Amino acid sequence: MEEHLPVGRVAALTGVTVRTLHHYDEIGLVRPSARTAAGYRAYAAADVERLREVLAYRRLGFGLREIADLVDDPATDAVAHLRRLRGLLLEQRDRAAALVTAIDRELGARAMGIRTTPQEQLQVFGAQLYDVIGSAYPATRRTEPRIAAQVWDALGDARTVLNVGAGTGSYEPPDREVTAVEPSAVMRAQRPAGAAPCVAAAAESLPFPDDSFDAAMAFSTVHHWRDPIAGLREMRRVARRVVVFTYDASEAGWRDRFWLARDYLPEFAALLTDWPSLADLTRAIGGRAEPVLIPWDCADGFFEAYWRRPEAYLDEHVRRAISVWTRVGPQAEQRAVTALRDDLTSGRWSDRNRDLVALDAAELGLRLLVA
Ligand SMILES: C[S@@+](CC[C@H](N)C(=O)[O-])C[C@H]1O[C@@H](n2cnc3c(N)ncnc32)[C@H](O)[C@@H]1O
Repeated sequence: MEEHLPVGRVAALTGVTVRTLHHYDEIGLVRPSARTAAGYRAYAAADVERLREVLAYRRLGFGLREIADLVDDPATDAVAHLRRLRGLLLEQRDRAAALVTAIDRELGARAMGIRTTPQEQLQVFGAQLYDVIGSAYPATRRTEPRIAAQVWDALGDARTVLNVGAGTGSYEPPDREVTAVEPSAVMRAQRPAGAAPCVAAAAESLPFPDDSFDAAMAFSTVHHWRDPIAGLREMRRVARRVVVFTYDASEAGWRDRFWLARDYLPEFAALLTDWPSLADLTRAIGGRAEPVLIPWDCADGFFEAYWRRPEAYLDEHVRRAISVWTRVGPQAEQRAVTALRDDLTSGRWSDRNRDLVALDAAELGLRLLVA
């Protein structure tokens, strides 16, 4: 016999009042399919699944009518809802992180007697994460020639290349006809003079007809997309070849691969729970994955870049150009930096990471997907 949850139990589990659950029933949004012997509403597994979707969309701020349209759509199954919800929640988290960063910045400015302009105060509400943190980006983010060579090699003989999530264009090949796509106005504004033309758009909905380019590339951006799989499929649609630099968070033991996440910032792993597996990402473009080793003196200051130069993470400029630090929030950041500083001073970091000194390049889970 299928288990049913009585309405009181559902209310207790969800924190939603019985009255609200009755209302959802009356308007046909979530109709419990059974009654208890005493005549109370009782929810079967499928009712609970639908209620879970309704409550998640509600928490995201959707109105009941919009939610009814979403959950009644026969083309969207439970997995598609979970993927969509996940993307929307990530976007909300990034916006909250951007707002916290902007507020911290304004508090800092006020403490020094500087008042932000009315425009600056309002700008943040329309901003993407990179509209807030993007101005710190060029300080340490630049082309790493050895990794660029691997990317450009994977582009093969492509003459026209679309660079999705292009940022300031660090990995755009100089010898091909490049078109860039970048949703953040701050990042677009920082593209160097003479850089490839840049279109304001997002990966999930590329404004180009099918097969418009010989190749599409994406470097260190897919983890920011609301819906990575949809974005990768879009790349596949508009280009005959696809090259993506991304991260493998599905291999066993990936949480322990990099000492910074393992010993100081366990919150990093939480940013990637539910991140599609490497197999799913690769499948979305119909390709294969190859490892990308990070040289010990990597010129591009991304999260893993300083694996053999731990002091770099104590530098505020280095951290501000790495979105992970903003996404985990100021408390986790301060705790991690303090612990790392202490371990560098005491020699504990060196004791724990002796084997790294002999390495010129490290395998830290970065991957090039090629299709
Ligand atoms: C870490 S930066 C990488 C920029 C550039 N590819 C590079 O390697 O220097 C990530 C970029 O992804 C962009 N981005 C965020 N969401 C996006 C989306 N849905 N579609 C395309 N790009 C996105 C951000 O605005 C940001 O410029």
